[in-house]
Amino acid sequence: MANEAERRRWNDERWVAAWPHRERLTETVTPYLLEAARPRPGQRVLDIGCGGGALAIALAGAVAPGGEVVGVDLSASLLDLARSRAGEAGASGLRFVQLDVQTDSLPEAPFDLAVSQFGVMFFDEPTAAFSAVRRALAVGGRLVFACWQGVEDNPWHVGTALRPFVAAPPVPPPGKSPVGPFSLGDDEYVCEILEAAGFSRVAATAHRTSVRAPASAVADPSLLPVMGIAAQREEEALSALDAHLDRFAVGDGAYEYPLAFRVYEAVNERA
Ligand SMILES: C[S@@+](CC[C@H](N)C(=O)[O-])C[C@H]1O[C@@H](n2cnc3c(N)ncnc32)[C@H](O)[C@@H]1O
Repeated sequence: MANEAERRRWNDERWVAAWPHRERLTETVTPYLLEAARPRPGQRVLDIGCGGGALAIALAGAVAPGGEVVGVDLSASLLDLARSRAGEAGASGLRFVQLDVQTDSLPEAPFDLAVSQFGVMFFDEPTAAFSAVRRALAVGGRLVFACWQGVEDNPWHVGTALRPFVAAPPVPPPGKSPVGPFSLGDDEYVCEILEAAGFSRVAATAHRTSVRAPASAVADPSLLPVMGIAAQREEEALSALDAHLDRFAVGDGAYEYPLAFRVYEAVNERA
């Protein structure tokens, strides 16, 4: 089955409690994404890999009155979080659907705009997934998404520190691509995929910023089992996390993380 490991991983209930901490990092990127996306009242918007729904709720406000936002995601538990947040925010014109963007048909197409904040790096067939997104756009519809630059420019990520405790990811079978937060870190590769998926006028803007946030924004001990760390190695892994975090400490229990990401824009010009 497509994206089987990712489906399992993102459906782990433990993400829900950790999510607001993680969002301290990703919400730093939201203003850059919204500035490029330019959502307008009346537009129909698809939020790809919407997670806990914070961006979708902001988009719903921006396309009101008369607009509509559909947030789609693989994760049932994160979609539950998104629905409860939308209810608390009193958001209207917004719904959330559990599906795999790569393989399932996208409901209520065509959209004027497809947006994603770090939700597009986990497709094991990225050209197929981006083609499906393009087909869900109206002619002239735009795709705007944020993804991380390479891991070397995002030293906050715990992957390198935890590598000794996690089994190496399997080599993808023929026809499948590696997935993960940095899978779209190479600009040339991303442009190739988007063009192969039929998009026109592909453009990327590279950004660097930093965010002050607690340790839990990048290293949440409750997620160690989700990352595949065996219970008997948790103590060692926690020490490695402490050493990792020390690099970003700025005093008084605060940390400053440098972030490097790109915002891509592309247009569907095909009928
Ligand atoms: C890093 S999170 C980003 C979530 C959210 N956009 C945010 O900024 O907080 C990636 C999200 O993409 C979703 N995702 C991964 N692969 C997907 C797929 N094939 N179809 C739909 N959603 C997917 C995951 O379930 C997860 O919620």
